[in-house]
Amino acid sequence: MAGQNLHTWTGWGSIPYRNAHVANTQMRGLGTFYDPRLNGPKKFPIAVKTGDWNKRDDEDAITSKLAPLHIYQLSLAAPSPPAGSFDAKAATRGSRLFNSRARCATCHVPPLYTEPGWAMHTAEEMGIDDVQASRSPDERYATRRLGGLWTHQKGGFYHDVGS
Ligand code: HEC
Repeated sequence: MAGQNLHTWTGWGSIPYRNAHVANTQMRGLGTFYDPRLNGPKKFPIAVKTGDWNKRDDEDAITSKLAPLHIYQLSLAAPSPPAGSFDAKAATRGSRLFNSRARCATCHVPPLYTEPGWAMHTAEEMGIDDVQASRSPDERYATRRLGGLWTHQKGGFYHDVGS
């Protein structure tokens, strides 16, 4: 995940954003979380009702963990596929296609396999539904990095199966 801007799939933020969000608003830990984009009663009624868009607990057991956790997560390399687990010849053909005629590499830019900058695309641009995109501030999907993709081959890919 190192070298990338937005890590979350619908572009809410990067690793430290996600960690603070989950620790405070999903795991209900004591801490601080602030995101004024969630302060919209129409789009995010629950965040407004619970006050989660501006959570300020008396104790804060989370904020001090965010930097070390961020560094640790950035240090993890995507796992390589086990030897002999795929057809190398077919992979070479696929790689050629990926980088040329199929134009995959225009968005999944090697070696990060996402776009440097702000890698967000509309559902319309992608030819998919906007169910999840419409629940996010920019109403877009982020170009997924493709490292370690083999690890979730069974569950499937793309937004319908989540990641
Ligand atoms: C216009 C930019 C763009 C192009 C071109 C593009 N992608 Fe993507 N790709 C995306 C976005 C955005 C997502 C996330 C969409 C979603 O979650 O449904 C994605 C998701 C994926 C995923 C799912 C990854 C996961 O973790 O589930 C795979 C696999 C993928 N792309 C492969 C390809 C291949 C192969 C090509 C060429 C045939 C390609 N992409 C061309 C933007 C692009």
